[in-house]
Amino acid sequence: MEKDRKNIIVTGAAGGLGQAFALNFAKKGAAVAAVDLVDCSKTADLVKAAGGECISIKADITKASSVSAMCAEADEKLGGIDGLVNNAAIYASLKMAPFDMIEEKDWDLVLEVNVKGVWLCSKEALPYFKKRGGGSIVNISSASILEGNPYFAHYVASKGAVWALTRSIARNVGEYGIRANSVTPGYTMTDASKGLAGDPESFKKNYDDNIAARAIKRAMEPNDIVGTVWFLLNDESAFITGQNINIDGGSIHY
Ligand SMILES: NC(=O)c1ccc[n+]([C@@H]2O[C@H](COP(=O)([O-])OP(=O)(O)OC[C@H]3O[C@@H](n4cnc5c(N)ncnc54)[C@H](O)[C@@H]3O)[C@@H](O)[C@H]2O)c1
Repeated sequence: MEKDRKNIIVTGAAGGLGQAFALNFAKKGAAVAAVDLVDCSKTADLVKAAGGECISIKADITKASSVSAMCAEADEKLGGIDGLVNNAAIYASLKMAPFDMIEEKDWDLVLEVNVKGVWLCSKEALPYFKKRGGGSIVNISSASILEGNPYFAHYVASKGAVWALTRSIARNVGEYGIRANSVTPGYTMTDASKGLAGDPESFKKNYDDNIAARAIKRAMEPNDIVGTVWFLLNDESAFITGQNINIDGGSIHY
């Protein structure tokens, strides 16, 4: 049954894609819990200024106690949880290097945040979805898993794990009316992405190469992802679970 509104947790919502999700979902009538390791009250303020409903919660998705408290707060303040967007990740701050030059500490960190964090948030949100009689999880993977970026093996491995984990979660939770899907966005113009390639020349080459590889020849913006994630959160996609949707302007057809 379609509810009047959706209550949605968005992790990694201090800026970038997470902030775009929070702002746009609220404009569509959702109440949002914007969650991040760093203060994300700016996101809540932006949503409220646009007439939407949003609370901000500081939480570390790698710590069970922190995630548990975050879900309890979101449930209490929003009045239930219908959706979870696992968007928080270590991304552009990672050093790019061939796989044999990656430092162990970077490998461990990216797997801990990008994979364990998704697992923990999904696990801790589950009782609240069950209480509600259903729910939808959308995991933000990356099109880099389809490309196999040669200088980002730790990140690619973590996002491949997110894709695979989504399928397992979907089979675990289907009987409760809960769904889990992932999306694989291509290179998207967030502040984090703008710092990814280092110097301006490398940035321009990366930017141009990405556009040249696409069927739709333009830069990809956060709003290009919002609609697909919103669709997966809502009842229009009620029979879709364990799937991945690639959003990259037709760069990779898989
Ligand atoms: N921007 C792109 O080109 C692109 C492409 C494909 C996938 N993605 C994915 O989209 C998501 C958002 O990307 P973005 O460009 O907005 O990056 P971003 O770095 O702006 O967003 C990631 C957020 O996660 C938060 N975070 C990190 N560790 C955390 C922790 N332990 N607990 C809670 N929050 C934590 C960060 O503070 C940050 O606000 C990420 O999952 C990224 O891997 C991005």
